[in-house]
Amino acid sequence: MTARSLEELASPYLQGLVPYIPGKPIDEVERELGITRAIKLASNENPLGPSPLALRALRDALSESHRYPDGGGYYLKQGLARHLGLTSDHLVLGNGCNELLELMARCFLLPGDEVVIADPAFVIYGMLAHLQGCTTVRVPLKAWTHDLEAMAKAVTSKTKMVFVGNPNNPTGTAVRPAELTGLMDALPDDVIVVIDEAYIEYVPPEMAPDSLGFVRQGRPVIVLRTFSKIYGLAGLRVGYGMAPPPMVELLERVRAPFNVNTLAQRAALAALDDDAHLSNSRSINELGRAYLSGELQRLGLECPPSVANFLLIDLKQDGRAVADALLRMGVIVRPLGGATLKTHIRVTIGTPPENERFIEALRTVLGKEQRSALSDQQPGKELIAEG
Ligand SMILES: Cc1ncc(COP(=O)(O)O)c(C=O)c1O
Repeated sequence: MTARSLEELASPYLQGLVPYIPGKPIDEVERELGITRAIKLASNENPLGPSPLALRALRDALSESHRYPDGGGYYLKQGLARHLGLTSDHLVLGNGCNELLELMARCFLLPGDEVVIADPAFVIYGMLAHLQGCTTVRVPLKAWTHDLEAMAKAVTSKTKMVFVGNPNNPTGTAVRPAELTGLMDALPDDVIVVIDEAYIEYVPPEMAPDSLGFVRQGRPVIVLRTFSKIYGLAGLRVGYGMAPPPMVELLERVRAPFNVNTLAQRAALAALDDDAHLSNSRSINELGRAYLSGELQRLGLECPPSVANFLLIDLKQDGRAVADALLRMGVIVRPLGGATLKTHIRVTIGTPPENERFIEALRTVLGKEQRSALSDQQPGKELIAEG
């Protein structure tokens, strides 16, 4: 009998699964193309960098690197609880909120379960469901936004989990608060809702739902947020989930003991209190979004109405080819592909000079090279020095 191959020994659910492709790091692009001064607008990071308070906390914590982290994340949870008006037993910390998505899948999803997700949505939801042997029910977006009514209708007796990315990646669109309440009210009590709010700090207050209200009410829901985006700490990997205590208790059973390292915990706690960094990051994003939207419109290109720190752009031609051409000019953006987004790229809103460079490179690639009169007067340059 011939020995089985590694492929055969692996979980059958790995078949057909391709690894998640992250945005290329700047170093890698520069090394491969032999260029310098590349800019990255591919992973929705904060272009202003980390909060200065977080940087100071990091320096102070370095000398404790020989110790294991606080496995329970006591101080970070206390800080978050204060910040959010919750108690620590509503909180679970993760190595990025990506790990919390994984823990949710491992905790609750079993072969044969159905999972309802929007299409397109953050690709990780579908990958995790597939890995657990679940059937993924994809509900097309309506006007580029989650169609929560249709998602509620897609729920069957087999549905275990519904994912709502709010704002959604890759469109940047958000649902209206009343629509989310409508979904929550429509769902049976044994369907778990994952509300992924990785970008919620960018959303105008009147558009941000009271998702923590569902947590306080003890509904079967987890709200996920992260320090990777507006807080500028993507490289440290720290995210958090807010859920009713019985759900937190289950997640704690599958969480690795030291999943969030000491530096990440300290920096996150410091970043939480840096209101200046937060509002500066919001302002630079809003100015950048207005600038990019205007310039893209002048180029005849359309974007869904993003309330996040990135734009989905329909180039009306092969998105990957344009992304490759931009890459060769040192501008890293995200091609998307799939059935619906072949002609799109996703671009993170950068600093004013980065946005300007992107627009200039895009003009060149699209063969529309006249310089924009507006780009020299781009607002917001003064905000960078403070960041
Ligand atoms: C919608 C969404 N959820 C979750 C994540 C994961 O973030 P983290 O860095 O906290 O793992 C991302 C990252 O891009 C995202 O876009």
